[in-house]
Amino acid sequence: MNYDEFADLYDHQYDVYRDDLHFYARVAEKVSGPVLEIGAGTGRVTAFLARRGVQVTGLEPSARMMERAQARAQRDGLELKIVQGDVRTFQLEKRFALAIAPFNALMHLYTPNEQLQALENVRAHLAPGAPFVFDLYVPRFGQMNTLRHEGETFHAPDGTRTDVFLIQRHDEPRQHITTEYFVDTTQPGGQLTRRHHTLTQRYYTRYEVEWLLRCAGFESPRVTGSFQGGPLEAGSDVMVFETRARP
Ligand SMILES: C[S@@+](CC[C@H](N)C(=O)[O-])C[C@H]1O[C@@H](n2cnc3c(N)ncnc32)[C@H](O)[C@@H]1O
Repeated sequence: MNYDEFADLYDHQYDVYRDDLHFYARVAEKVSGPVLEIGAGTGRVTAFLARRGVQVTGLEPSARMMERAQARAQRDGLELKIVQGDVRTFQLEKRFALAIAPFNALMHLYTPNEQLQALENVRAHLAPGAPFVFDLYVPRFGQMNTLRHEGETFHAPDGTRTDVFLIQRHDEPRQHITTEYFVDTTQPGGQLTRRHHTLTQRYYTRYEVEWLLRCAGFESPRVTGSFQGGPLEAGSDVMVFETRARP
């Protein structure tokens, strides 16, 4: 899944998302040693951690997302270390004291082989016993096959207005959710430009992840249903997994 075409839209949509930041900062501040962030994107979490003195390396395949992260670093007067690579195949010389994969980064691994390859590679980059922490959304979806506007309208200082419309399709046997985005930008004079992007995510169930982790050499995880540590229950929006690399 190549995020290049999403880079501009991504910060509009998610820069304001802060639910997970203090959680990942707490997790990172508990370890002493370097931290690996998988799927660092535009550096939303990376910058938050770096600002707190965490020695974080971001891994990100999309060149455009990396550019956005570096622009953020410049704007914030930070130095961010982000390396280009794929979680399945990256090779770094270091062993990390912690790996994190915030905000559904593992949802771009579409088959059991890809998932195991990725998890085994993460484990190979962790010191024995080091934690691996990540979150995934709970699979619960809005109305399928229906064009929707979910309130995403952005006004730019130059007077342009951007509206995001979306339509989602569910491929249940594959556990895929495909979202088509129609991004309409209207100039002050009324001229409209429409961009179209497609994003497919592979969603997970809780016990599927537990088995994947065990198969890839991780301990059985602690699973919670919020970043505050509450239990995973029917109404939870997120599944938070905390595990460790088996020595
Ligand atoms: C939903 S975004 C999350 C970005 C960031 N973690 C955040 O919290 O804002 C998912 C990120 O995972 C990255 N990604 C997709 N496939 C990947 C892969 N195979 N290996 C590593 N990262 C990947 C995408 O490029 C994207 O930046």
